[in-house]
Amino acid sequence: MSCGEHRASGSSAPAGSSKLGTGCAHSPLWRTTGRASATLAAQRGAPSSATVDSGCEQRPAPYAGVVRIDIVTIFPEFFGVLDISLLGKARERGILEVNVRDLRDFTHDKHRTVDDTPYGGGAGMVMRPEPWGEALDAMVSPTSTVIFPSAAGMPFTQSLAREFAEHDHLIFGCGRYEGIDQRVVEYAASVTSVYEVSLGDYVLNGGEVAAMAMIEAVGRLVDGVMGNPLSAVEESHSNGLLEYPSYTKPAEWRGREVPAVLLSGNHAAIAEWRITQQLARTRRVRPDLLPPESNANSVS
Ligand code: ADE
Repeated sequence: MSCGEHRASGSSAPAGSSKLGTGCAHSPLWRTTGRASATLAAQRGAPSSATVDSGCEQRPAPYAGVVRIDIVTIFPEFFGVLDISLLGKARERGILEVNVRDLRDFTHDKHRTVDDTPYGGGAGMVMRPEPWGEALDAMVSPTSTVIFPSAAGMPFTQSLAREFAEHDHLIFGCGRYEGIDQRVVEYAASVTSVYEVSLGDYVLNGGEVAAMAMIEAVGRLVDGVMGNPLSAVEESHSNGLLEYPSYTKPAEWRGREVPAVLLSGNHAAIAEWRITQQLARTRRVRPDLLPPESNANSVS
């Protein structure tokens, strides 16, 4: 069964992208050689029968295996932060392999030119296809997944992050200026699975910040990256709702008390309080995440 989120983002697919049509927008825009998830899992060493309930459909359980991430950018320095924190540790432990490639290394002219004026006129510059073609040829295979961050892409969601975390080779192509010549996306799609993905309805100066956000969201779902895997299960969006509020010691701080139920030791009551809080917060802040009928009776 496909989930609502899959279908919703599918409706934003470009007209004429006939290869969508699986009823699930978490399919890439074009999937010419996309693998079944079970094959992915098998390649990483998981039993192919292992599945987990993602909240919308059965999918293979994550397993320990190296996930390779290639990033193509004209600003490799942006990705220095991948050396620190949880993802840095995962790299040290060999769970994640991250390679940052400078697009200008795939140019051949003296000025290492990556952009030119747009055909048809208009403001700004467009990234030339030749360096992108060479960069992709150096790293892509039919088992890769190529992600182009773009304000014109499908929305990035937790379920798309989960889907990417099941892949063992992700390539992020970070455009700048007015974007990348569209033939690069089409070319990549003739070789493997391609997604154009937007972080939200606003415009960034390039794909780097969006790629970083996606890499962090995906990386922490890779098996072995999080110290406590339960953290990823209980947080916002994991069950389609926003997270419940959290508290720690002291029990009273500046006249504010921790809700009594959390001190009660009554696990059933705590679980019930948390789900109530999740529903109330989601209804208040993100009613769009709830089915329409659950908003109909809401008290504002
Ligand atoms: N590049 C520019 N704006 C973007 C956005 N909103 N999401 C992803 N990539 C982008």
